[in-house]
Amino acid sequence: MFKVLQNEELAPDVHRLVVEAPLVAAAREPGQFVIVRPEEGAERIPLTIAHAEREQGTITLVVQAVGHTTRLIAETPVGGGILDVAGPLGKPTEIRNWGKVVCIGGGVGTAVLYPLAEALAEAGNHVVTIIGGRTEKHLIMRDELAAISDELLLTTEDGSAGARGFVTAELEKLLSDQTTRPDAVYAVGPVPMMAAVADMTRPHSLKTIVSLNPIMVDGTGMCGGCRVSVGDEVKFACVDGPEFNAHQVDFSELSTRQRTYQEEYCRLDEQLRDKEKGK
Ligand code: NAD
Ligand code: FES
Repeated sequence: MFKVLQNEELAPDVHRLVVEAPLVAAAREPGQFVIVRPEEGAERIPLTIAHAEREQGTITLVVQAVGHTTRLIAETPVGGGILDVAGPLGKPTEIRNWGKVVCIGGGVGTAVLYPLAEALAEAGNHVVTIIGGRTEKHLIMRDELAAISDELLLTTEDGSAGARGFVTAELEKLLSDQTTRPDAVYAVGPVPMMAAVADMTRPHSLKTIVSLNPIMVDGTGMCGGCRVSVGDEVKFACVDGPEFNAHQVDFSELSTRQRTYQEEYCRLDEQLRDKEKGK
């Protein structure tokens, strides 16, 4: 069992958990993830390691409760435990001093963005971070990102904080001016957002890296569940990624694959809810 030491609600249905996992904390590098199984027989959920404290032997995970298993993880009480935390998995982020970097986080993807932005800042980059959510309540890790970024721009779809609209509108402004145009862009969030970012930076031939979260099962390159097409090659996000060159990712295929088990998943989720009610 991996003990949960803290559990805080960051946004509606989005929880930040600090979990005791000393071996993972000691080995982890920015961009890597773990696969979590809250209890025997449960589905495996890949979660990015948002932060790690080697000295304390802890890792920080951010989970959005969207179904039965993610709800179980999100609702683990302080002092409670998670059955399995396997990792660190995946390739670490390619961190370099690019010069000026724009880091973009859409919704919950902001939690995945944080360790990348932190490492890029530590590497000496000038970091401009853009984060967006549906409303002010959906903006997560604002203070943490403000502390490590040279500039933090906020967007909300209802205009309750920052500029009204999508994160991509802020990126467009930065790209349109030679003095603010970055040398590299890192984007993490919903697939349509990452696809839109790729389309915007492609004409400028700007290095653009996205972190993908396709369906994962084993997380070790064996099941093929996380298959993505990148350029002319088939890659497995769990071992070849999760980060890829945005200009080569087939986002349309990725989006179709994300929806493949949607109906089945909703049905299973309903069955599990009914079972829980009948307890
Ligand atoms: P959301 O749908 O509320 O979107 C959050 C923000 O992303 C929006 O406010 C907007 O600024 C931007 N955005 C969304 N669609 C866009 C588009 N078409 N064009 C430009 N910008 C767009 O997101 P949420 O509910 O907080 O997060 C859930 C989504 O995030 C899921 O799709 C999930 O798969 C994805 N996610 C991805 C990762 C990853 O590693 N890539 C990690 C966690 C979650
Ligand atoms: Fe099975 Fe990547 S999760 S191959």
